[in-house]
Amino acid sequence: MTLRFAPLGPADITVAAQVINGAYRGGDDGVGWTHERDLVGGDRISPQELADDLARNPHAALLGAWSPEGNLLGTVWLNPTADPHVWYLGLLAVGVEGQAGGVGRGLIAAGEAFAAARGGLRMRLTVIDIRDDLIAWYVRRGYEPTGRFEPFPQGYRVLRSGIRLNVLEKAIQ
Ligand SMILES: CC(C)(COP(=O)(O)OP(=O)(O)OC[C@H]1O[C@@H](n2cnc3c(N)ncnc32)[C@H](O)[C@@H]1OP(=O)(O)O)[C@@H](O)C(=O)NCCC(=O)NCCS
Repeated sequence: MTLRFAPLGPADITVAAQVINGAYRGGDDGVGWTHERDLVGGDRISPQELADDLARNPHAALLGAWSPEGNLLGTVWLNPTADPHVWYLGLLAVGVEGQAGGVGRGLIAAGEAFAAARGGLRMRLTVIDIRDDLIAWYVRRGYEPTGRFEPFPQGYRVLRSGIRLNVLEKAIQ
């Protein structure tokens, strides 16, 4: 399947939040091969939070992966960090029905190309430290654990005590 990768606009925000929440938490369509359903409760993000994040970060983009029929299959958030050579990749999500078919791999590659074209030399991402299958997937994409960890952010209903974020990075040029 040939996918189209393009930044989302304001009209796509609501459907993007649906795709993201369905992927991270599992939804009516079932649960995918990796998710946070047992670790964090509530939505991952609301349409308003997504719109606010985009408005607050003028260099950020939420890339979408679109099917040939024009359906939004997945998303990835990209934003330069305080060091403009290091970009942050987040909100990587593929709707449950579209998972395990290469869309996630495509989104990572498109995100890395997007950042590299804007001067990014390294990509950084964070993963909940006990999600071993997902960390292994990122390692297969070339990401390496940096040895650094961050506290899990405030404002979420955490269902498993002691979780924190493992920081991974990859050279993209
Ligand atoms: C993580 C995510 C984006 C991956 O997207 P995807 O489209 O399913 O990924 P791909 O199809 O490109 O790759 C599927 C991979 O899963 C592997 N896989 C499939 N079923 C699996 C299983 N039961 N256990 C472990 N790995 C599995 C495949 O072997 C393949 O790995 P490979 O690319 O190294 O061969 C998607 O699962 C998702 O949205 N998850 C919920 C949100 C989330 O956790 N995001 C990341 C937060 S840091």
